[in-house]
Amino acid sequence: MPASSDFFGQRNPQAVLKHGVLTRYAHYFAGRAGSATGGRVAFVDGYAGEGRYEDGNPGSPLLLASQANRVESLGRDVKLAFVEQDDARRLRLNETLQENKVVPDQLLGGSFEEVVDTLLNRYKDRAVLLFIDPFGLAVDRSTLERVLGRSSKKQPIDVLYHFSLQTVARMGRAGIMDDPLAVRSSSQLDAALGAIDWRTPFEGAVRSGQPTSAAMEVARIFGESITSAVPMKRTAVPVRQRPDQLPNTYSCCSQTMKKRTGISPTLHRKRMSIGFIIVIPLITKPT
Ligand SMILES: C[S@@+](CC[C@H](N)C(=O)[O-])C[C@H]1O[C@@H](n2cnc3c(N)ncnc32)[C@H](O)[C@@H]1O
Repeated sequence: MPASSDFFGQRNPQAVLKHGVLTRYAHYFAGRAGSATGGRVAFVDGYAGEGRYEDGNPGSPLLLASQANRVESLGRDVKLAFVEQDDARRLRLNETLQENKVVPDQLLGGSFEEVVDTLLNRYKDRAVLLFIDPFGLAVDRSTLERVLGRSSKKQPIDVLYHFSLQTVARMGRAGIMDDPLAVRSSSQLDAALGAIDWRTPFEGAVRSGQPTSAAMEVARIFGESITSAVPMKRTAVPVRQRPDQLPNTYSCCSQTMKKRTGISPTLHRKRMSIGFIIVIPLITKPT
């Protein structure tokens, strides 16, 4: 992840992959989950950013807005909600939305964690796709579980969660060191990952690439533990950018997703119903 200050300069390969999944899954979700709610759907972008990158590429809010338009022809009525904590970025987002004639149902400041329950109450009779794309690991495991635990037949909630392997690789290695800084990293990881054993994979992971492999193992354990904690499904899809690189791993949903998105699941257990998390661990350079 680049420094947050230059994040919106040029869209990097991670963002391209992430946006590919977001775009395709939003379309699929509106069609499938929306059929259970009479066509009522909400796309909630919890960490919305500026809407567009300086290189002209659309950010997640514009991508979600364009999918919302597309699925209108399928009889779907999609409400858009964007949360952006940073005032300057939210201002730019507002301008970008206006330039593109996108009228969101909600454009909120404040922190995602503070407003997510209000948004879910507002969309109580809609299928909700929640995109969680913070810098690093900003979301606590408890928030994630609480949100997913609200999913019901009346309000199916899927979460598309960007899980930063680079952050976990960096903090995991720091977190098991015997120095004062370790306390900060390990308590942040404990909050983000919950009561899983993230430490063991990092023991002895010192050579180049090993922390990233350890982070991938942590992502796998994290995904498994989330799906056993709340009633939902998950499928792992490893993606390599080049044969000599470690995979970027998508954990996503179903065989149907393969047909709709071209992303081939390695595991597909059951078709998506309700309450689903897609964890997107992404890396470009191994740590
Ligand atoms: C990775 S960027 C989002 C990129 C965007 N989703 C995209 O794909 O175009 C993360 C954004 O979340 C914002 N942010 C950070 N903490 C937040 C919080 N607690 N609640 C809401 N937004 C937050 C940051 O200001 C930043 O703009």
